Amino acid sequence: MKNTVSTFRAQKGLDKLTMVTAYDAMTARYVDECGIHAILVGDSLGMVVLGLDDTLSVTLDDMIHHCKAVARGTRNALLVCDMPFMTYHVNTDETVRNAGRLIQEARAHAVKLEGGVDFAGEVRALTRASIPVMGHIGLTPQSVLSFGGFKVQGKSIAAAQKIVDDARAIQDAGAFSIVLEGIPARLGGWITKNLEIPTIGIGAGPDCDGQVLVVQDLLGITERSPKFVKRYGDVGSAMKQAFCAYKEDVQAGQFPDASYSYNVEAEEEIIAHLK
Ligand code: KIV
Repeated sequence: MKNTVSTFRAQKGLDKLTMVTAYDAMTARYVDECGIHAILVGDSLGMVVLGLDDTLSVTLDDMIHHCKAVARGTRNALLVCDMPFMTYHVNTDETVRNAGRLIQEARAHAVKLEGGVDFAGEVRALTRASIPVMGHIGLTPQSVLSFGGFKVQGKSIAAAQKIVDDARAIQDAGAFSIVLEGIPARLGGWITKNLEIPTIGIGAGPDCDGQVLVVQDLLGITERSPKFVKRYGDVGSAMKQAFCAYKEDVQAGQFPDASYSYNVEAEEEIIAHLK
């Protein structure tokens, strides 16, 4: 089934929604073939692909480059692309123009941006331009400097109320869904029950309408993962094992043998004529 923002939204209260990040075409194809509802080209790209310490240096061109690749591997999943830091913070004209590039050039079906009440105007402007928006509140990684680190949010009454107000503001501005990241599980459940749009949790407990994980965390490719990550594979170890076995084979003269080589019938004669 083809997933759209309408089918995604209509799932609220029915089946749990699933979303996984991807940054290349092959990974997107595997994710898509499992029937995962949405693929997110996250700006986590900076940390899990580009080797950066945070997401702050990821550019719009980086996102376009990777989202184009992911679009080529995506058939049925809803393709959501992150707006990176400083691409929706200056003014709404710039926000709409930048989001427009993710739709027109990168072939995303929707954009995601971080922030609550303060960014409701941007969400409204994008919605008016027919660009579907997924919100993202709670532990928003682009605010790592003002948070003073990657810390769980919403741990006091005032902090929890701020997150609730953010969720309502983004919903009222027209977002079709919202990511809740790094908040207490019961707060995630409360927001989910009190919103009309689906919530997608990452470190926000089991009661969200759906879940998202970063693909490297899910596969076990990252060195360390946060508490909320369940590893569904040990692909990092499998990769390392394969690379070491290849090196040993080549150095032992065991690869490539005849079965991995091209053999032409008249080869001896050809070789004999070489000067
Ligand atoms: O960039 C990203 O991968 C994200 C997810 C963690 C939701 O925003």
